Amino acid sequence: MHIDWELFSSPWDEMQLKHNPFRQEQIEAIINSSGILKHEAPVVLDLGCGPGILGKLITNEKPLTQYTGIDGDPLMLTAMQHLLGRRHIHALQIDLRSPDWSRSFNNHFDSVISLTALHWLSQEHQMETYKAVYRVLKPGGTFIVGDPYKLEESKERENLEAIHSERASMLTGKTWEEFWNNFFDKYLIKQAYTDYHKEMGYQIPFEGSDDGYPLSFQIKALQDIGFTNVSILWKADLRAVYGGTK
Ligand SMILES: C[S@@+](CC[C@H](N)C(=O)[O-])C[C@H]1O[C@@H](n2cnc3c(N)ncnc32)[C@H](O)[C@@H]1O
Repeated sequence: MHIDWELFSSPWDEMQLKHNPFRQEQIEAIINSSGILKHEAPVVLDLGCGPGILGKLITNEKPLTQYTGIDGDPLMLTAMQHLLGRRHIHALQIDLRSPDWSRSFNNHFDSVISLTALHWLSQEHQMETYKAVYRVLKPGGTFIVGDPYKLEESKERENLEAIHSERASMLTGKTWEEFWNNFFDKYLIKQAYTDYHKEMGYQIPFEGSDDGYPLSFQIKALQDIGFTNVSILWKADLRAVYGGTK
């Protein structure tokens, strides 16, 4: 079956934008604070890379980038390989919940980045992942995450959730579920997203929280592991960018 992966790309972006109207700004904050653009040939790891949206932007700017995308989902990695074409990319099918993946990459990456992915993990597995990231970064390397975060103050959270829903309702993109149903309909694969994966023997690993976790948890987790310069770098609605340096 021939799949036109370019047709995957813009509906994907629109769907992600619907869930996160500030996605573009969040992406800019990740890339700008990661230090990636200071290198001519940065060595970059993207956790939960999906179809490689960050990889495409970075390799457009810096064609010598060595971009490694980790994702558990084989369909996502196939999309990424098609969308990024012949660049210096590595697609690794790895479940982040098992931290062993990091053992072969000691001090290897200039930057580790992640967008809208790590909230799929439990807090315990996020901690494990952060430890793994610390191991794979070169000394001085940066770890930058863009994800939803949970506001601890409930009234403020309700207000922001209402503003967020209002903003999202004005955008034309599809929801996650509609996107996948549409994608499979188009290619006459009758099973929906989850059934399709079941058939491939792949289990969707969502075990976290759509809302993410409090930023206080993120800051403490990164500091406890040994990252320095830990800070919140950007925030809009219920999305943030945070990270630190090894
Ligand atoms: C919402 S998508 C975001 C993809 C991409 N970063 C983007 O923003 O376009 C979340 C991605 O994280 C991946 N993911 C979630 N949990 C994972 C895990 N335990 N191991 C590996 N990948 C995981 C999913 O397969 C999915 O591709």
